[in-house]
Amino acid sequence: MKEKLAVVILAAGQGTRMKSEKPKVLHELMGKTLIRHVLDAVLPLQPEKISVIVGYQGEEIRKELQDYCVSFADQKPQLGTGHALQQAQAELDGFNGPVLVLCGDTPLLSTKSLGGLVDNHLAARPAATVLTAKMENPTGYGRVFRSEDGKQILKIAEQKDLYPAEEAIKEINSGTYVFQSPEVFSVLKQLNTDNKQGEYYLTDVVRIWTEKGKSVFPFTAVDYREILGINDRVDLSRAGLFLREKINREHQKNGVTIEDPAHTYIEAGVVIAPDTVIRPGTFLQGNTEVGGNVVLGPHTTLIDTRVGSGSSILKSHVQEADIGPDCSVGPYAHLRPGTVLDRGVRVGDFVEIKKSFIGEGSKIPHLAYVGDATLGPDCNIGAGTIFANYDGQKKNPTFLGREVFIGSNSTLVAPLRMGDFSRTGAGSVVTRDVGENITVVGVPARPFSPKNE
Ligand code: UD1
Ligand code: CA
Repeated sequence: MKEKLAVVILAAGQGTRMKSEKPKVLHELMGKTLIRHVLDAVLPLQPEKISVIVGYQGEEIRKELQDYCVSFADQKPQLGTGHALQQAQAELDGFNGPVLVLCGDTPLLSTKSLGGLVDNHLAARPAATVLTAKMENPTGYGRVFRSEDGKQILKIAEQKDLYPAEEAIKEINSGTYVFQSPEVFSVLKQLNTDNKQGEYYLTDVVRIWTEKGKSVFPFTAVDYREILGINDRVDLSRAGLFLREKINREHQKNGVTIEDPAHTYIEAGVVIAPDTVIRPGTFLQGNTEVGGNVVLGPHTTLIDTRVGSGSSILKSHVQEADIGPDCSVGPYAHLRPGTVLDRGVRVGDFVEIKKSFIGEGSKIPHLAYVGDATLGPDCNIGAGTIFANYDGQKKNPTFLGREVFIGSNSTLVAPLRMGDFSRTGAGSVVTRDVGENITVVGVPARPFSPKNE
C-alpha cells in the first residue's frame, strides 16, 4: 500500500530581496505565480493534505490559492524557516507519516524529482532526507556537509554563517526535505536563533538529529537547475529562461520548428501539432492550441486562442479567438475576444476584429474595424471600412449575407442587415438594411440607379 504523504509549503516570508510590494511567491513566472508552480508540481504525488504557511500579505496568498484544496496556517511574526514549519503542527495533528516540506520560492522543481525524493526517503527511512544539488556557483545557498563516507548529511550551514574555506563546498540545500511527523515537531522545539540572521533555521534540525545519532540522507537532483530558488529578479529571469528552454525543447522533440528558442515564449499547457513553424518573438499563452503546418510570427502573440492547420499569423495580437484552417492573418492585425474565422479567411494589415464570425473565404485585407458582426462566405470588405457597432449606449449587431462586397471607406451603421450579393459604393454610410443583390451608394446610402449619376 502506498503510504500517505503530507505536504507543507513555506510561504510566509516577504522576500525583501525582490524589492517589491507583493509577496515574493506571488511574482509570476511564464504566466503563473511561483507558489502555483510549486503546488502544481506537488499535486500529482496525491498528498493526503497540503498546508501552506502564510504571513506577509497572507490574505493575498489565500486568495491566489482559493481554487486549490489546501489549508493555511499563519506565521506571525516570521522568525525563520524552522519557526515557519512549526506553525504546521496543529494542521498535522494526528498525521503519522512522511511530510514533504518545500519553499514557495522554488518553482522549477519537477514532480519527478519530488517523487524520487519521497520514494528514496520511504525506502531508507532516515530521520530526514534532503534534496540537494551540486552547483558551480553555490553562492547564497545553504551548504551541505557530508559525513566522511559521504552517505549522510551532518549539517547544513547558511552562506552567511560559513567560514571562508567552507565557501568552496559546491553541494547546496534546495530547501526541500522529507521529515517524519510527529517526530520533526519535537526537534523543531530545540532550535535556537544562534546565527548571523538571528532566525530559527529549519536546516538546524539536521545537526540536532546527527548529534542524537539519527541519520539524515541526501538525495541529489538530476538537474541542478530545478533547484533554483527565487530570491531576487535576476533569479526570476534565470528561472524563466530555464522553464522556457524546457518547454521549447519538448515541442521541438514533438516536431515543431522553433527558429529561435531564446526568443520564443510558450507557456506550459499550450498544444502545438507537428510541422508548425514558430518564428522569433512569438508568445503563446494560456489555453492556446495550434494545428499542424501553421506559421506563427515573427512577433505574434496568441492568448487562449485556437489556430487550425495550414494557417499563418504574422506580427499580430490575438486573444480568445478561433482561427480556422488555411487562414492568413496580419501583419499587424488585432483579433479580440470572440473572433471566429472560418476556413480560408484572410485578414490583412491594421484590421481589428471583435466578437464576430467571418465566413469561409471572406477577405478583410486592410484598415478596417469589424465588431459584433456575422459575415457570410466570400465577402470582401474594402479598405477603411468601419462597422459602427456602438451607438453610445449599446453594441449593435451587423449581418452580411454571402459574397457581400463593401466598397472602400464604407461605414456600416448597426444594427444592420445586408442580403446575399449586396454591395456598397466607396464612401457609403449605410444606415438602413440592404436587400439581396442591391447596390447602395452615398451618404446616407440609397439604392444605386443610373438616374442618380
Ligand atoms: C533557504 C535555506 C537554505 C537553502 C535555500 C534554498 C534555511 C535557513 N535556509 O534559504 O539552506 O539553500 O532556502 O532556496 O532554511 N519563510 C517563511 N517564514 C520565515 C522565513 C522564510 O515562511 O520566517 C519561507 C519564505 O517565504 C520562502 C522560504 O521560506 O518561501 C525560504 O525562505 P528564504 O528566506 O528565501 O530562505 P533562503 O535564504 O533562500
Ligand atoms: Ca530562497
